[in-house]
Amino acid sequence: MNGVTGRMGYRQHLLRSVLAINEQGGLTLADGSRVKLRPILVGRSEAKLADLAAKHDIPDYTTDLDAAIAEADVYFDAQVTQARVKAVLKAIEAGKHVYAEKPTAETVEEAVTLANAATAAGVKNGVVQDKLFLPGLLKLKRLIDGGFFGRILSVRGEFGYWVFEGDWQEAQRPSWNYRSQDGGGIILDMFPHWHYVLENLFGSVESVYAKAVTHIPTRVDEQGNSYEATADDAAYGIFELSGGIVAQINSSWAVRVNREELVEFQVDGTHGSAVAGLRNCRFQSRAGTPKPVWNPDLPVTHRFVDDWQYVPDNGEFDNGFKIQWEMFLRHVLEDAPFPYDFAAGARGVQLAQLGLQSSAEGRRVEVTSL
Ligand SMILES: NC(=O)c1ccc[n+]([C@@H]2O[C@H](COP(=O)([O-])OP(=O)(O)OC[C@H]3O[C@@H](n4cnc5c(N)ncnc54)[C@H](O)[C@@H]3O)[C@@H](O)[C@H]2O)c1
Repeated sequence: MNGVTGRMGYRQHLLRSVLAINEQGGLTLADGSRVKLRPILVGRSEAKLADLAAKHDIPDYTTDLDAAIAEADVYFDAQVTQARVKAVLKAIEAGKHVYAEKPTAETVEEAVTLANAATAAGVKNGVVQDKLFLPGLLKLKRLIDGGFFGRILSVRGEFGYWVFEGDWQEAQRPSWNYRSQDGGGIILDMFPHWHYVLENLFGSVESVYAKAVTHIPTRVDEQGNSYEATADDAAYGIFELSGGIVAQINSSWAVRVNREELVEFQVDGTHGSAVAGLRNCRFQSRAGTPKPVWNPDLPVTHRFVDDWQYVPDNGEFDNGFKIQWEMFLRHVLEDAPFPYDFAAGARGVQLAQLGLQSSAEGRRVEVTSL
């Protein structure tokens, strides 16, 4: 596990996935047998790794990536995006199965190189697509699969929150996110997520128009030094999907939250609508749709937000990262299906790259098959 000292590597992948799987007694396979995982922590700082290892009683850690790869069955990468390709290629060359955070690379060329290398080497490969396993999106999927919407017309997504500039309050995201030369930018970060959400729930993405903006031009880093924010911190995107569905998604680290959740997708269909967030999903059916009449001379007395109902849980929802780890490990151990491969990862990187191109050229760009 490379990059475990980072935000995602530590909390979601080590703590909430790999260690959680062991705490529940291991991963259960189809034949009922259980497999425990032996993480090898890899990173650049021996001291940080030693701290983590001691804290969680993990015997194996090293700063020697080659040695770790030689010993491991699966290589996992949650490093900064820029460091990913080189390390993952090393693991593929050593014939190891590979699982990686998104985006798999900074450019389509590199992402495709990774996918092709993994296929040629015959190793199992997977990319993190955690949002698909969020309770809110699983409930939305339940509505789609149950035919609730009729014909789906449009999707509108709002993602974002205020990321502090770092001057009078510390920033809550690492500073590399705001420097394009370090692999930052909200399009490269979020469009890969939007790609797999749209592709898996609604249809393939056929075109993109995006406007990328850097709203906050100067920020203060972890050391208290002011730096120029060279990467986009907001992106306003329109995506045309197969079947004529139009998706419009705003992504921003310069917006104050006026929603129930940090991300929300409203889906409107001929027979009903729904608003899905991380945990919840509210819906309104055709029969329950009010009939507003536009009249600015009268005060609005009807509370439209009260017309929506919540989709019930009807079950327990586990951590999305952990669910996907279990799927990937079953894919490795017993060849269970796993559609979230490096080719899917490359399509996500492609949408990010085309989004940036669309913004730079000020035009709609078609998504070609990779
Ligand atoms: N799936 C998600 O929802 C999600 C959310 C946030 C980030 N991510 C992805 O996870 C990855 C890590 O993001 P993060 O927010 O955890 O970042 P982070 O800065 O907290 O962690 C980065 C990790 O990479 C290591 N690292 C930093 N610079 C490096 C370098 N030059 N060479 C090698 N290693 C280096 C750090 O030591 C740390 O372990 C990114 O690729 C990001 O796109 C995914």
